[in-house]
Amino acid sequence: TGLAAAPVAAQQYPARPITMIVPFAAGGPTDTVARLAAEAMGRDLGQTIVVENAGGAGGTIGAQRVAQARPDGYTLLLHHIGMSTAPTLYRRLAYDPVGGFETVGLVTEVPMTLVARKDFPANTLAEAIAVIRRDKEKLNYANAGIGAASHLCGLLLMKAVDTPMTTVPFRGTAPAMQELLAGRVDLLCDQTTNTTEQINSGAVKVFSVTTPQRLSPLPNVPTSAEGGLPEFQITVWHGLYAPKGTPAAVTQRLSQALQVALRDPKLVARFAELGTAPVAQEMATPDAHRRFWQADTAKWRPIIQAAGQYAD
Ligand code: MLT
Repeated sequence: TGLAAAPVAAQQYPARPITMIVPFAAGGPTDTVARLAAEAMGRDLGQTIVVENAGGAGGTIGAQRVAQARPDGYTLLLHHIGMSTAPTLYRRLAYDPVGGFETVGLVTEVPMTLVARKDFPANTLAEAIAVIRRDKEKLNYANAGIGAASHLCGLLLMKAVDTPMTTVPFRGTAPAMQELLAGRVDLLCDQTTNTTEQINSGAVKVFSVTTPQRLSPLPNVPTSAEGGLPEFQITVWHGLYAPKGTPAAVTQRLSQALQVALRDPKLVARFAELGTAPVAQEMATPDAHRRFWQADTAKWRPIIQAAGQYAD
């Protein structure tokens, strides 16, 4: 509408429920982080935070929703590393992928795992690489669209193995995982928040974790380096955003509630079960988040450009 947001009476904020947009399907890793954070933040704010899933196009559909929302503190975005990669991956977006947002704070950094349907013909990362090199585009690699963490992980894998696969996009990795469990796709690189329980129940095969060290909830899963692919490393940081122009008093109050949420014992325990942990308190602030985001965007640009042939 272009109407300037009415000046927010920050001392009354929040005076009504808040919407937190998750730019991926319900039940996936981003949604898991968002719902835990929203519940704990809502308690501190004394208001309900309603999580709404707006999936599609690697998270850019949901990000656009928030970039174009009224900057009044009642529409937030919980998103991840896709905020660093969209400016490089997308030449034209209907919103400014950098200037369209105020940062509130970082939330968590989540490791990834390379998993396969349970009868995939390999049991180690080296064997999986051999199958990828043999079968190439005959293999279906599932992801959540261009710009998703699962897309970026696949790009790193195909670059490291120097072999393309057929990528199959979904509105999030919850539906992608359903297809993997049904054996209708072959491989998926997804965050431990969505794979730990499937791995430990034997419902999927796992070849590596994409972290320098093994993870306590997955003690028997080798790192990519142990599996012979040291460059196949990625962790997925998550942050909280508001539309550009949201008053500083509002983003500061939200950052305060986020820091309280990241100390919540229930959230911390659930994060630990799923292979992750909250960021340090000083990283859950608008300035630290913006600095991290700017550096991370610069870090990924050359990596994505060097792997261009695997980016679509
Ligand atoms: C992704 O980027 O792959 C997303 O995290 C998937 C999701 O959260 O559903």
